[in-house]
Amino acid sequence: MAVISIGSEDRVFVLTGAGISAESGLPTFRAEDGLWAGNRIEDVCTPEAWERNPALVWEFYSARRAAGAKAEPNPGHVALAELEKRLGDRFFLCTQNVDDLHERAGSRRLVHMHGELNMAHCELDCGRAPVEDRAIYRDLEEVGRCVCGGRLRPHIVFFGEIPLEMERIQAEIKLASLMLVVGTSGSVYPAANFVHWARMGGARTVYVGPDAPLNASAFTNVVEGKAGEVMPGLFLVQ
Ligand code: OAD
Repeated sequence: MAVISIGSEDRVFVLTGAGISAESGLPTFRAEDGLWAGNRIEDVCTPEAWERNPALVWEFYSARRAAGAKAEPNPGHVALAELEKRLGDRFFLCTQNVDDLHERAGSRRLVHMHGELNMAHCELDCGRAPVEDRAIYRDLEEVGRCVCGGRLRPHIVFFGEIPLEMERIQAEIKLASLMLVVGTSGSVYPAANFVHWARMGGARTVYVGPDAPLNASAFTNVVEGKAGEVMPGLFLVQ
C-alpha cells in the first residue's frame, strides 16, 4: 500500500477535482456518463450561455444543488480534513469542486477556485459580495435581484472567466514542498498547470485517482485507486 511521508518541515498543497466527490454519488464531468456527456458546456457554463438562456443555466445548477444537498462527504474528504487538523497552517486545500463536501467533512483552510454551488452573485459584476443562495429554481421569475437591479446568477466560474483566489493559490503553491492532486483529469487550466508550478519550486508531486490524468508525466508519484479507498491511511505524518 502506498504511503506518503510528511515531515515536520513539509507544507502541503492539495488540489481536488470532481473525482473526490464521485464516491459521494456526485457525477464527474468527463466520464462517459458524466455531466458534460448530458449537457453542453456552451449551453450552461459560459457567459454567452447566461446571456442567451439564463433559465437553462439555472435549471442545470438547480439540479446540481439538489444532488449536492443529498450527498454526504466520503472517507476521501474526511482524510483531508484530518490531515489539516494535524498540519494546521502547513496545509492548504484548493478545490475545483463547487459542492460543499470538503467543508462538511471539516476542512477550513480551503478555496473554491471555480466558485460555490450554494452561492449566487450579481450578473452585472457590480462589485457586491456573493450571497448565500440554496434555492432550487423552477422558473426564472423566482430568481432574486441584486440591490443594483442585476439578476443573480450562479456563483460559478464559467469557461472564459478567471478562476477565483488566484493570488492566494499561487502564493501557497510557492510555499509548498508537497503537492497532492486528487481526482481531476488535468484537462482544465490553470488548475492543470499547478503541478508544473509546484515542480518548478522543487516540490514532490503526488496524484491519487483510478486513471492517470492528462498531465500524469509531471507527477513524481501516481497512486492508482479511488480517493475514498486510498486516502485513509495514505499519510504518515512525522
Ligand atoms: P473530470 O470529470 O474532468 O475528471 C474527474 C477525474 O476524477 C477523472 O480523472 C477520474 O479518473 C477521477 N475519478 C473518478 N472517480 C474517482 C474516485 N473515486 N477517486 C478519485 N478520482 C476519481 O473533472 P475535473 O477534473 O474536476 O469546471 O474537471 C475540472 C473542471 O472541469 C471542473 O471544475 C468543472 C469542469 O468543467 C467548471 O465547471 C468551471
